[in-house]
Amino acid sequence: MLELNGVRAGYGAINVLWDVSLKAGAGQLTTIIGPNGAGKTTLLRAIMGLLPLGAGSIAVDGQRLDGRPTWKMADVGIAMVPEGRMVFRDMSVEENLIMGAYHPSHRAHMPERLEAAYAMFPRLRERRRQLAGSLSGGEAQMLAMARGLMSNPRLLIVDEPSLGLSPLLVNELFEVLARLKGEGRTIVLVEQNTARAVGVADHVYLMQGGKVVLSQPAAEVSLEQLHELYFAR
Ligand SMILES: Nc1ncnc2c1ncn2[C@@H]1O[C@H](COP(=O)(O)OP(=O)(O)O)[C@@H](O)[C@H]1O
Ligand SMILES: [Mg+2]
Repeated sequence: MLELNGVRAGYGAINVLWDVSLKAGAGQLTTIIGPNGAGKTTLLRAIMGLLPLGAGSIAVDGQRLDGRPTWKMADVGIAMVPEGRMVFRDMSVEENLIMGAYHPSHRAHMPERLEAAYAMFPRLRERRRQLAGSLSGGEAQMLAMARGLMSNPRLLIVDEPSLGLSPLLVNELFEVLARLKGEGRTIVLVEQNTARAVGVADHVYLMQGGKVVLSQPAAEVSLEQLHELYFAR
């Protein structure tokens, strides 16, 4: 479904991604793991059209994405849940959700999308009038995920959702990811929690120094080998 070929991108004169190629199959959960600074977030920014490509191409179902402005990504069924949650703290939970479906083509579906969000995240329903800034870290992450789902994306991209969450909330988060996958959604998950990410994934990519250093079906991944590679220089 999503296909990157030989992607180079970075920040001005500094190149970060070196010929990154990867695929995320429809209905699958593809995880991209790797240490801090490996270029995972940069890769997601490149997919979302937030960074120009120095080389290579990005396509969804054969349709080129590069060059398409970020605000048009919802039209092709792509949504991203950014690193650090990024909820609007001074808005209520429900207002945050509404922001996830601001596009005119989604507005007509607002009531049913809100209902679906509250069905998936019951705690958000209880807190719908509460300011997002007063949510716990786990609740804010769930809100960020729910907001990402408001445009009913075919492809949901999630950047380090488990960061800073308690073990209990990490469990809850991975249950939600498994449920979304069960719904047939295509998911690209960036994680540093390698064991959990591999556990829920269909395919695993390991990035290091801006390159893909391993690509393997999750069922074939040896965590031991993965950790050796992970910490190798
Ligand atoms: N806005 C930026 N300007 C310049 N360099 C950046 C910027 N954001 C990230 N980088 C650099 O790009 C590299 C990859 O960062 P990032 O993609 O955030 O890694 P990861 O998400 O894997 O931790 C790092 O060396 C980082 O310092
Ligand atoms: Mg990152």
